[in-house]
Amino acid sequence: MNAPAELALLAAVHTAEQHAAAVARLCAALDAAFEACSTPHDPSRCARFARGVREALAHALADPALVTPAQREGATDTYRRHLIATDGRGRYTVAALVWQPGNASPIHAHHTWCGYAVLDGTLTETLYAWDQARQGASVVRSHARAGGAVAFGGPGRANIHRLANGSDKEAVSLHIYGVPGERISTHVNDVLPLAQESAEAAAR
Ligand SMILES: [Fe+2]
Repeated sequence: MNAPAELALLAAVHTAEQHAAAVARLCAALDAAFEACSTPHDPSRCARFARGVREALAHALADPALVTPAQREGATDTYRRHLIATDGRGRYTVAALVWQPGNASPIHAHHTWCGYAVLDGTLTETLYAWDQARQGASVVRSHARAGGAVAFGGPGRANIHRLANGSDKEAVSLHIYGVPGERISTHVNDVLPLAQESAEAAAR
């Protein structure tokens, strides 16, 4: 092997080791959050767990090797998800989401607890309240979620939101969901319709 190729290989091994160490640090922090929780079967009811997940996310933001360049690659028509880590005991999954300008999630609640942090760029988060009478979500407010923002929410329709990249720059966020890896596509988002205005209200 020639010298430049050998150096490139060493650099790749070094980067992979740094990434693995960063993933291990995050998983250790999440494991500690579970251990601090008095209701591990339903951790979303435990304030210490929520605090532990938020702290784990905050530390992860300062760990640049956690999300590799390949895990920062986006798509054009929708946000792209990259799996970062899955818990060996099936308690959580960590993913990076890459948002191109204009990408947005559907309006959704969650079937499980989840936490997220904005790594790069700025997302707009719109919060909703469930309108039982109209069987839809109605807008409460929107706010910008810049790099460094951290959030945690429990399952259920008390926490309905939509994330979108309304900026002209790519954004990357880190998400932790309380499901095993194979359920991330099917058991996390509870996609909800927007509440339709009644004909009477629309006419006013
Ligand atoms: Fe969400």
